[in-house]
Amino acid sequence: MDLRALADDAIEVSIVGSFSRVGIELRRRLFGWTYPPSDALAGKTVLVTGPTSGLGRAATSGLAALGARVILVGRSEERLTALRDELLAAHGVDRFPIVLADMGSLTSVRAAVARILETEPRLDVLIDNAGAISPERTEGPDGIEATLAILVVAPFVLLSGLLPLLQSTPGSRVISVTSGGMYSQRPNLDDLQWTSEPFDGMRAYARAKRVQVALVREWARRVPGAGPTFNAMHPGWADTPGLAESLPGFYRLMRPVLRTAAEGADTIVWLATDPSVAKVSGKLFLDRRPRPFDRIPGTRLSAADRCRLWDSVVALAGAPDPAPTPT
Ligand SMILES: NC(=O)c1ccc[n+]([C@@H]2O[C@H](COP(=O)([O-])OP(=O)(O)OC[C@H]3O[C@@H](n4cnc5c(N)ncnc54)[C@H](OP(=O)(O)O)[C@@H]3O)[C@@H](O)[C@H]2O)c1
Repeated sequence: MDLRALADDAIEVSIVGSFSRVGIELRRRLFGWTYPPSDALAGKTVLVTGPTSGLGRAATSGLAALGARVILVGRSEERLTALRDELLAAHGVDRFPIVLADMGSLTSVRAAVARILETEPRLDVLIDNAGAISPERTEGPDGIEATLAILVVAPFVLLSGLLPLLQSTPGSRVISVTSGGMYSQRPNLDDLQWTSEPFDGMRAYARAKRVQVALVREWARRVPGAGPTFNAMHPGWADTPGLAESLPGFYRLMRPVLRTAAEGADTIVWLATDPSVAKVSGKLFLDRRPRPFDRIPGTRLSAADRCRLWDSVVALAGAPDPAPTPT
């Protein structure tokens, strides 16, 4: 085995060393990371959900700097417009269309899909990044628990709706931003929406992220071949408004070793551009290397569990199965 890979695996076991800025710095040096040329995404269209803050914002500016047309999908017209104006000032060309979508509402996401299908002739990369932690159990307008709706069901509706556009764009890629926290939980397959046990926002978040990754694996299995590819990445711990707000105690303690948002977003940009992953599908990455899906005994999801989760999410999405299981 490659000695560098052994060293990287040892870093990963330490968790703090892996998820902090120490991990990314060591890996950058260990593997001699390179960066794409400034026109790597010229002529390509990338969609980012949650581009107005944190990792989505950092990914958007990295992708824009590589020449991409970036579709900015968010819920606040004001924040999206401010971002578009900033990008326009930095790059001098308006290749940053705004599409309004509240990921807490399937109706809103369906309208965004319709708008994108109407206006965009291609979609090279879809980045499912928007996310939030809800301390209390709430339900959105579709009657779905909000964490599950934002992290799982709405992105599923977005991806299902845009699948034909992705499939008609050669070499397209789908990237889901998950969380290392997902390792800690196994979803309750009988109660994805927390109707029968006391709600716990952090656990609900971790479980929803685990469902998200299970679906990435299902997409890769159900839609094999030339494209799109489907991969997940987790960013480690990055200094973002979202982290500061949702985990203030952790944020204060860990702030000195947190990654920057750009470091947290590095693997997003890499997955969107690097030729070595053009045909890789169904994997979970941290710092440009595939990582295990399971780490803690008792949290593993079997192939049958993943199928069941797919069917549950199809039912919640309320539309025909976009990729029935291969026979
Ligand atoms: N930071 C970390 O260390 C870390 C670690 C693991 C995983 N992650 C994941 O990384 C992703 C980005 O997180 P972040 O830390 O960058 O958080 P952030 O700074 O709070 O950014 C979250 C983004 O998601 C958008 N968003 C939230 N709820 C939305 C909704 N209902 N509809 C549409 N957009 C919505 C926000 O839009 P507004 O501007 O309108 O609020 C914002 O653009 C999330 O999926 C998060 O779970 C982050």
